[in-house]
Amino acid sequence: MTGALSDLLNNKPLAKEHLVQLLGITNQEEHEALLHHGLNTKAASVGRIVYLRGLIELTNKCAKNCFYCGIRAGNDTIERYFLSDEDVLQAAEFAYKNQFGSLVIQTGELSGPIFAAQIERLLKLIHRHTNNELTITLSCGEQSQEVYQRWKEAGASRYLLRIEASNRKLYEFIHPADGNHDYDTRIKGLEDLKKCGYQVGTGVMIGLPGQTLEDLADDLLFFFKMDIDMVGMGPYLEHADTPMFDQRNLLLPASERFLLSLRMIALLRIMMPYINIAASTALETINPLGRQMGILAGANVVMPNLTPVTDRKKYLLYNNKPNLDKDASLSTATLNDVLSSIGETIGYGRAGDSIHFSHRQA
Ligand code: 5AD
Ligand code: SF4
Repeated sequence: MTGALSDLLNNKPLAKEHLVQLLGITNQEEHEALLHHGLNTKAASVGRIVYLRGLIELTNKCAKNCFYCGIRAGNDTIERYFLSDEDVLQAAEFAYKNQFGSLVIQTGELSGPIFAAQIERLLKLIHRHTNNELTITLSCGEQSQEVYQRWKEAGASRYLLRIEASNRKLYEFIHPADGNHDYDTRIKGLEDLKKCGYQVGTGVMIGLPGQTLEDLADDLLFFFKMDIDMVGMGPYLEHADTPMFDQRNLLLPASERFLLSLRMIALLRIMMPYINIAASTALETINPLGRQMGILAGANVVMPNLTPVTDRKKYLLYNNKPNLDKDASLSTATLNDVLSSIGETIGYGRAGDSIHFSHRQA
């Protein structure tokens, strides 16, 4: 057993060099011991309860051009959509009736007064139609502090803004230098969100071209230092209509990106026992059992997709996105069976707020 693993299992504090060693585990038994420690930590902190967030991919319109993302503005091979109020309310109603407790509204990154007003209106509309019983997370990119505040007042309680890569150089490598992507602005966004009183989430992609284990260890330390409440992270996946596709021969095999993502989840759970961690769709893209494997490594949130099936096919951040045709009620029933078979309980009807956040407030 590596020294770092036995230190970890004996609850010694984790330094960066230990994180690097643990992320680099190649031995299967050690890998499993690490994930098991993630699961035990979760059981003792947030419990073996999985919270559901119904995901509504409101629009695939985006003003940005991230090199890795399939819905980047420069991809003119896709049809752009913006869901109607009726579609949004239907998805919200599904979440409400099935006791999801919570919704996530995700969009490409748009800005300006029209978009700010659209989101504000939808927040109020959803709350009215679901008796104020669903908590809402927004994932709508960088906005001004005023806009974050306005959406908070309209009823959003959590916000996801992934740092994507906490290493400034890597961040700059995966984003165009077109004046729309500034690392410091991204960090300020996370700080502004905290000031507005949100439960704040961030995350990274794992297995990016040129990314090292040191970078990933720094990502974990970044979440810790930023005192973040929730994390969504998963493997980077290629998309053929993006500039980063040209670097696909620099990548780790998908199976290794997958295992590395599980070790990231386990280590993060051990470092930040009370945060919420999502088992990402990207995990499930590589391995059909990916979601439950993420849960068994320490994640405690899943986000079933409630976007109408016709539009779901247009929200492709990466190739081979799963469940494109699966009706939401079918996938919810399956999820229930799968999670109970691995000893987890779904937190039906519960908001599943980040306990770390309530500690932070206290
Ligand atoms: N592979 C994996 N994740 C991706 N995202 C965007 N493109 C990809 C990709 N090719 C993630 C980003 C973004 C989130 C909405 O999806 O981290 O923040
Ligand atoms: Fe737009 Fe987000 Fe994709 Fe970047 S990652 S292109 S901001 S949707």
